[in-house]
Amino acid sequence: NKLVVAIDGPSGSGKSSVSKAVARHFNLQYLDTGAMYRALTWYCLKQQTDLTNPEAIIAAAEKFPLHQGTSPDEESIVVGETDVAEAIREPGISGSVSAVASVPRVREILIQMQRDAIAAAPRGMVAEGRDITTVVAPDADARVLLTASEEVRMARRGLQLGGTQSSSDLQKQVVQRDAKDSKVNNFTEAAEGVALVDSSDLDFDQTIAAVIAAVEK
Ligand code: CDP
Repeated sequence: NKLVVAIDGPSGSGKSSVSKAVARHFNLQYLDTGAMYRALTWYCLKQQTDLTNPEAIIAAAEKFPLHQGTSPDEESIVVGETDVAEAIREPGISGSVSAVASVPRVREILIQMQRDAIAAAPRGMVAEGRDITTVVAPDADARVLLTASEEVRMARRGLQLGGTQSSSDLQKQVVQRDAKDSKVNNFTEAAEGVALVDSSDLDFDQTIAAVIAAVEK
């Protein structure tokens, strides 16, 4: 029998590293749904899709040649023949991804891909994103909303980007993206049946332990 774990959280909540660790703990596969929206944005920019035209983005999504690995130990994300693992983390992608992710039909297409990936995982999966607990897999065996105070999230995001950007620039960018994403999920409270894990005062290992405890409950 299969274990499906859904984890949502805002930018800088630590959801990617925590989700991978939880997948390793339970020996499950791992799905980074944010990487899918980022890779589709890369694909749109690559073929000069007009991001102000939803129909054009939908057309790109319909032929999106994504090959995504599901190992929690090494990221593998390829579009067509191109390995995009690094390119999708660039600021140009972060600045455009909300435009792509806000088109309802585009979401439907990626959500279907996500459900197919979860269904195809033989032992189960940890799927991570912004709408996994509520839309993609509301029937998951365990659902967790991972939060942290804005201050803590900005500090973590700053470390992740290597400390090259000033913290006020960074804060502006992340706050802007959160605002654009707020239609997807503003994370003010956990949906019914979703366990809330606030990692503001927890270190990495404590956060993993709290999520594992929520899964085992
Ligand atoms: O970098 P960060 O952790 O904030 O985000 P991410 O998980 O890489 O997701 C990038 C973007 O994809 C988000 O800002 C959302 O616009 C979009 N996204 C979404 O709409 N739904 C998801 N399930 C996951 C990501």
